[in-house]
Amino acid sequence: MAIILDGKKLRDKLLEELKLKIDRLSEKPCLAVILVGDDTPSRIYVNNKKRAAESLGIVSEVFEYPGNVAEEEIIKKIQELNADKSVNAILVQLPLPEHINSRRVINSISPEKDVDCFTDTNTGKLFAGQPPAVYPCTPKGILLLLDEYGIDLDGKHVVVVGRSNIVGKPMSMMALNRNATVTVCHSHTKNLAKITKTAEVLISAVGEVLIKEDMVVKGCIVIDVGISKNSVGKLCGDVDFNSVSKVASYISPVPGGVGPMTITSLMLNTYDLYCEQKKRSL
Ligand code: GUN
Repeated sequence: MAIILDGKKLRDKLLEELKLKIDRLSEKPCLAVILVGDDTPSRIYVNNKKRAAESLGIVSEVFEYPGNVAEEEIIKKIQELNADKSVNAILVQLPLPEHINSRRVINSISPEKDVDCFTDTNTGKLFAGQPPAVYPCTPKGILLLLDEYGIDLDGKHVVVVGRSNIVGKPMSMMALNRNATVTVCHSHTKNLAKITKTAEVLISAVGEVLIKEDMVVKGCIVIDVGISKNSVGKLCGDVDFNSVSKVASYISPVPGGVGPMTITSLMLNTYDLYCEQKKRSL
């Protein structure tokens, strides 16, 4: 049986340490979140982020807009938040409605306050192998989890399934920056199983149950980033946990694996941006 990569346990440890640091601050870090429309999962994510922030003493302000809001109105709010010295971190919850140019909105965030590392400036740094302001939350959380269990990516074949800007692309770059050999698979990949069977580390971020036992070799380290519901409405990931956990050496569960680590990274990033801004204003 595989060893479980326990994201809840690591979250509790890291957030306890972070809370002690925040308790010592006279002025608290502030995270501003922009939520557009009424996408239910986005609303749940934003509520979870707000709750985590408040439990640490991070000030969290959520700005909500109806789905038909004009792009300019969101950009104006972001410019206001950029100029507001009491705001340290800005997050625009994705996806945005179709009529909005997401790249334009994201790029209006000041790179110093870009808590997701989604602006062109920060992704450019990431791709150039230079440190961005902070690292994207989900891939950062995955690397923290691997580090906790002493799993080194250097020289390993890492197969990433999914090529999203939020997870797949930055994850592949961050694994490459750690000297992994990286393959990125996606919806047009031919014979996916042939490739996943060559993985020493398999990271799946697709959003449907896709990874079965016959796609994974014995000893593989399996990271499940997916979140969906199965036919009876139970929360599940991309990986068929019951069968794959019999062949994997390590596996992250859903729930309780990558999800808690993503929120943890967001809290750590907010604190890091706060510290960087304070240092710069001295
Ligand atoms: N939507 C799904 N995941 C994320 C994330 O990590 N950050 C933002 N801003 N939106 C998301």
